[in-house]
Amino acid sequence: MKILVVGSGGREHALAWKLLQSSQVEQVFCVPGNGGTASLNRCENISLAMDDFEGIGNFALNEGINLVVIGPEVPLAQGITDYLQSSGLKVFGPNKAGAQIEASKVWAKTLMQEAKIPTANSAVFNRAAPAKSYIKDHGVPIVIKADGLAAGKGVIVATTRNQAVEAVEAVFRGQFGGAGEFVIVEECLIGQEVSVLALTDGLTIRPLLPAQDHKRIGEGDTGENTGGMGAYAPTPIATINLMERVQKQVLDRTINALRAKKIDYRGVLYAGLMITPSGEFKVLEFNCRFGDPETQVILPLLETPLEELMLACVEQRLEQMPPIEWKQGACATVVAASGGYPGVYQTGKVITGIPEAEAAGATVFHAGTTLNQQLMTNGGRVLNVTGIGENFEQALRLAYAGIDQINFEGMYYRRDIGYQVKG
Ligand code: AMP
Ligand code: GLY
Repeated sequence: MKILVVGSGGREHALAWKLLQSSQVEQVFCVPGNGGTASLNRCENISLAMDDFEGIGNFALNEGINLVVIGPEVPLAQGITDYLQSSGLKVFGPNKAGAQIEASKVWAKTLMQEAKIPTANSAVFNRAAPAKSYIKDHGVPIVIKADGLAAGKGVIVATTRNQAVEAVEAVFRGQFGGAGEFVIVEECLIGQEVSVLALTDGLTIRPLLPAQDHKRIGEGDTGENTGGMGAYAPTPIATINLMERVQKQVLDRTINALRAKKIDYRGVLYAGLMITPSGEFKVLEFNCRFGDPETQVILPLLETPLEELMLACVEQRLEQMPPIEWKQGACATVVAASGGYPGVYQTGKVITGIPEAEAAGATVFHAGTTLNQQLMTNGGRVLNVTGIGENFEQALRLAYAGIDQINFEGMYYRRDIGYQVKG
């Protein structure tokens, strides 16, 4: 099989790496890929823009690609799946209608309410004044969300009324991308977050191992939200009992609601959950794709060949697949970020120490790198240094032993990834 992966982050490096472990996969191409995918055997980067659907489609047809896997939400929301499917290609990732579940938080919230999926209480506003009076009535902490895609930056957890009011104004100024037409003001939930990524063919939906992401930039979960500073799986807080309830109350209900809207959703449905101290859960958000960095800790534990699962989704025969098999053990990843991220940061810094990190037992996925003569930083999140072990202690030890070897100017990482599962 020949597979084309669209995207350029750590998630796509992990996808390509995992797909290439199968004897059925002859070659992987990445559009545009990164320094990590450029270094994988039997993997080639193709220099096309992710929004060049025509170029991607022509390449896939000329090359005889058997499966196209879409990593990020932006091309999905722009309709890359619809375009490529209309050329006869097999695509893993929902169509534009399905991608609304991530691209519009208002749309997703309405679906959750209609389908009785547990979620935070909220209200939607198209003007600032009533949003501000709702904030005044409900008090802080309170959560302000911009409607459209905002690269993980469209959510503000406000701890003061001023902050909440400023956030509402910023949304209507269009500061978080999107149209800035709607704001959601939402109850602030307290607890531990769990990411449940599930594979679906539009009829059947099966969860992967639950993962925990560390969203905040600072140790002790402080400071600004980021795309994710580290992750681990399987998170013990998502017990078998909890996952059964998530299957019934979230995954099955969502797929049924999508079907009722005549949306044929084939790919990953990612439910971001908050687990309250009493063991209840509510959906914080849905994403229409694999999580990043969650994918980097889930895929190393997957035994079933990934391309078989993806093809079963695309060909709508997931129900006939045997249960998904997993390796025993645990996986953890630590993100090495550019100094200043998630604010302003520099790129083009030389990266050293990856061979030494791998010699120390870590697996290094590249998130924002380029390989010209030398390997250089090319993004906010640069590397995902990953440990695969028999337990969390070992996985975390390997990840940190790896990151100790790595260096680039301004490198920052959290030293407390996995604090919830440390002995
Ligand atoms: P989202 O883009 O909706 O996932 O939100 C990003 C992050 O904001 C989540 O991962 C949470 O950390 C936080 N968040 C979102 N909604 C809430 C909420 N209702 N209560 C507390 N934190 C939230
Ligand atoms: N790690 C969070 C996300 O992928 O949205």
